[in-house]
Amino acid sequence: MSSLHVLTGAAGFIGSHLSDALLARGDAVIGIDDLSLGTLRNVEDASLSPRFALYEGDVNDVERASAAITAAAATRPIDTLWHLAANSDIQAGVADPDVDLNRTFLTTYSAVQLCRRHGIRRVVFASTSAVYGELPGPLAEHAGPLFPISNYGAMKLASEAALTAATTGTLDAVAIARFPNVVGPRSTHGVLHDFLAKLAATPDRLVVLGDGTQEKPYVHVSDLVRGLLFIRYGIDEKIACYNLGDGRTSTSVAEIARLVIERRSPGAAIEYTGGNRGWAGDVPRFQYDCSRIHARGWQPSMTSTEAIARAIDELVAEGAAAGRS
Ligand SMILES: NC(=O)c1ccc[n+]([C@@H]2O[C@H](COP(=O)([O-])OP(=O)(O)OC[C@H]3O[C@@H](n4cnc5c(N)ncnc54)[C@H](O)[C@@H]3O)[C@@H](O)[C@H]2O)c1
Repeated sequence: MSSLHVLTGAAGFIGSHLSDALLARGDAVIGIDDLSLGTLRNVEDASLSPRFALYEGDVNDVERASAAITAAAATRPIDTLWHLAANSDIQAGVADPDVDLNRTFLTTYSAVQLCRRHGIRRVVFASTSAVYGELPGPLAEHAGPLFPISNYGAMKLASEAALTAATTGTLDAVAIARFPNVVGPRSTHGVLHDFLAKLAATPDRLVVLGDGTQEKPYVHVSDLVRGLLFIRYGIDEKIACYNLGDGRTSTSVAEIARLVIERRSPGAAIEYTGGNRGWAGDVPRFQYDCSRIHARGWQPSMTSTEAIARAIDELVAEGAAAGRS
């Protein structure tokens, strides 16, 4: 008999790809998503499967979310709760801290309550490089103390703490996957969308925030989903905490601008606004140490810049440049 997975944030960018991957394993998924940031379009393919169901509602409404799980779990045992629901718009959380309290932290607290009610003993959590703040040097899992610089990063770090504390009773194991920037089809925001929309509006020039030297590691969503499955099924630790990424390569904003222009508007001029920071709460430059997950046997198939180049082509193909984000 196939297992059931509870997946919060199932209609979002990464959650919908993870749903597809779990269904492809032959398993069943009950997704929970209030569609605040996700869309039904993302789960159109998944919805064709009789093994997929989506509860359209807030994870924090534990009674209703719990009833949806009860209905889905009637015929199958629950394997794992994958907790991806969060506020993914870091700037929204800078402007209003309640956004990250409710969507990034309380969703985690609610997810633990759902585990307790349904006897779910394993959680995989979508964490982030933002928990590290602006620590110098390559960011490794043992680094600390951690001082995030965004409410989003702070509420993700608090979520990690709530989940690890739950392993003293409610949970047998928690896997914390710290993602860098993730790119690929079905994404809704970020630098690629920004540049594609700007070039669609003014094809002869691209205005870039900062001086172009901001540089970060990117991972393609297809690699990330493989990494999440690896953390769940390839590592057996009570508290598994891993950076996911290539760990060697990163891509500057200037390089991203060049790649987008090359594909969308050859010859367009780049105008930098100046300064080496983007927006408040953003960590402009970091290196990611992913040696621990690599030593365990997982590697992404693409470098940071290969992931970016592929994602630009995919976003163009799905219509992002026409402002459909
Ligand atoms: N995309 C990235 O680069 C990145 C990087 C690091 C970490 N992450 C984390 O990965 C996860 C998925 O991110 P994403 O990029 O797919 O974002 P996303 O916004 O596309 O997905 C998040 C989903 O959660 C849903 N959601 C939010 N609050 C909810 C609530 N209270 N109840 C039910 N559903 C709710 C949204 O509607 C959305 O579909 C998030 O936890 C995010 O913080 C993403």
